[in-house]
Amino acid sequence: MSEARRKLVVGNWKMHGSHAANEQLLEGLRAAGPLPADAAVCVPFPYLAQAAERLARTALQWGSQDCSAHEQGAYTGEVSAAMLADFGCRYAIVGHSERRALHAEGDQLVADKAQAALARGVTPIVCVGETLTQREAGETEAVVKRQLSAVIHTLAHCAGEMVVAYEPVWAIGTGRTATPEQAQAVHALLRAQLRAATPRADQMRLLYGGSVKPDNAASLFAQPDIDGGLIGGASLKAQDFLAICRAAVR
Ligand code: PGA
Repeated sequence: MSEARRKLVVGNWKMHGSHAANEQLLEGLRAAGPLPADAAVCVPFPYLAQAAERLARTALQWGSQDCSAHEQGAYTGEVSAAMLADFGCRYAIVGHSERRALHAEGDQLVADKAQAALARGVTPIVCVGETLTQREAGETEAVVKRQLSAVIHTLAHCAGEMVVAYEPVWAIGTGRTATPEQAQAVHALLRAQLRAATPRADQMRLLYGGSVKPDNAASLFAQPDIDGGLIGGASLKAQDFLAICRAAVR
């Protein structure tokens, strides 16, 4: 079952980079040669063209960090899934905890964004995860299930097409990673929830995100329901990102 799932490692550059700095980073990634995992970088919107140009004819793919829920129209500042598809985006992160917290994105909006992406052939990477307060209150399971259930319900028979990323908010950018056992426990819950919703659950990739580094990636990726990672800080250095990709040996 799990052997059938090739690992996926996705870089989330967040709001970092410049044309010049990206040239170096993308060049470092291009030079990598074959990797044992599928890999992609999710870059800020203005740099999609640069990523598309530099990563063309490599095994690496690229994507965005958000996607509008709307098709087109008077939505100043938003970027539609059709536009992402124009730039060859393979993935769009939706519902990252920074967007949920800083832009008040709720479960239904996240689900609508995932649906808009899928409708244009862009695979949504749907992020779920609890805050430290929620974990300490014993609410982890309820929170991630509620977040995932909104997306499952909205995508309906297409739910099996998404990628899910479990990112405990307390582990993002803090250097405090969930232990492999903590992460696996939540991934197993999410997998069970997906099994009840789609026959594709065992082929779906569930990523872990939150302070993944070259030295902890292998133990996380060795867990049966962890199919790769969503990598923030460590994706900004080609060598670190590639080391994490190479940790995906299974
Ligand atoms: P981090 O970020 O790897 O810097 O913790 C992960 C993320 O927010 O996707």
